[in-house]
Amino acid sequence: IPQRPRLTVLGTGYLGATHAVSMAELGYEVLGIDVDESKITKLADGQVPFHEPGLDEMLRRNLATGRLRFTTSYAEAADFGDVHFVCVGTPQKAGSLAADMRYVESAVVSLAPHLTRKALIVGKSTVPVGTAEWVEELVAQHAPAGIGVEVAWNPEFLREGFAVEDTLRPDRLVFGVKSDWAREMLENTYKGVYELGVAEDREVPTVVTDFPTAELVKVAANSYLATKISFINAMAEVSEVAGADVTQLARAIGYDVRIGNKFLRAGVGFGGGCLPKDIRAFQARAEELGVGHALRFLSEVDQINTRRREKAVELTAELVGELAGARIGVLGATFKPNSDDVRDSPAVAVTKLLAEAGAQVTVYDPQGIDNARRALPTVAYATSSVDAIRDADAVVVLTEWEEFRHADPVALGKVVTHRRVVDGRNCLDPAEWRAAGWEYRGMGRA
Ligand code: UDX
Repeated sequence: IPQRPRLTVLGTGYLGATHAVSMAELGYEVLGIDVDESKITKLADGQVPFHEPGLDEMLRRNLATGRLRFTTSYAEAADFGDVHFVCVGTPQKAGSLAADMRYVESAVVSLAPHLTRKALIVGKSTVPVGTAEWVEELVAQHAPAGIGVEVAWNPEFLREGFAVEDTLRPDRLVFGVKSDWAREMLENTYKGVYELGVAEDREVPTVVTDFPTAELVKVAANSYLATKISFINAMAEVSEVAGADVTQLARAIGYDVRIGNKFLRAGVGFGGGCLPKDIRAFQARAEELGVGHALRFLSEVDQINTRRREKAVELTAELVGELAGARIGVLGATFKPNSDDVRDSPAVAVTKLLAEAGAQVTVYDPQGIDNARRALPTVAYATSSVDAIRDADAVVVLTEWEEFRHADPVALGKVVTHRRVVDGRNCLDPAEWRAAGWEYRGMGRA
């Protein structure tokens, strides 16, 4: 068993690129592979094809040492690697809740025939439970007989905007393995992470388990997080009719350490490339396994989330009277701050609903404009907050970027036609905005 296994990363999207760069940063030799030639060219040239704080610099540093390389050749990957990480996407299938597994299949089937010696194929993508067994079968069918390729499952928990941090300093590692060889291989693969933990006086707990548990950990964690957000958003719905303030309610229940104060921010809800698709794929898989009833609450979680988007539109309509023809300045397009990701973004969804109701919408986002323009080409885009809200009848804040949280309501008040603001993320100080003459509406704040 190599002390410092050579690693390949199959799929250089968000997860793969971050993983490849972070592992190289820890001193491993890493080869990233993708079928998308343009992605590989960019990465090899030191450019990260998405926005992630700190990743660009780390990529260039590790390219310069020669530890990190990129290729489109599976043959080269097979020849190079001891451990092959599968980091391809598992998007929602069109017209269904289920995950589309074609990229996992194609990565494994493309690599396996080229393998010439014992190696470990490690799944990292978020997948339906049972996938690791299926990957094992694919490997048995496509790898040369007798070389003893093994499979392991090692889910990734990184958050966008903190991806490098979460990879280098994970809360925990989960190894789904069938043999001591696979476990030791993973332990050596993550030695750099353990050592960093020791150096920083921080423990990195490891859960060594079977395939299905490792696969489930990931979707269970994301389902829990989505449920926590929808729970507080359900409390927001009740607060709105009861005359309560959900932000104070969240603060009060959050002091109970069993509940905790994280992920209790009420607003326009969750989006992104993970939580929405993961809770849907999980339900689809549970149905297949005959336990659909166990996860029926996740459909409720999804519906609460969708209703909050509609609520933000309602609040805007309430402020302006008639949406048709109203000029609305939207601040925020990404699904969360410090990201350029607009996948399933509540901000884009709300903007679309406003535009469909006839409002004239102009959007500003510090990083997400290019992606938003592609996702929603029918509205106008501005290059600053001030330009987005000029002459607006109402301002709608949909992503809690630092620059919006700290915006000066007095200065912004001079640019708009009517001082009306919908705070879709409860990220502004109502007292401050009201003092500057704004009519303020938050989420779950009667
Ligand atoms: C998530 C998980 O956190 C991560 O562990 C997993 O690996 C991938 O999915 P990410 O999608 O990057 O990460 O975003 P996250 O920070 O979890 O936020 C998800 C969404 O929930 C965002 O749209 C965010 O605005 C929203 N959210 C989060 C809330 O509405 N309220 C909260 O209290 C917290």
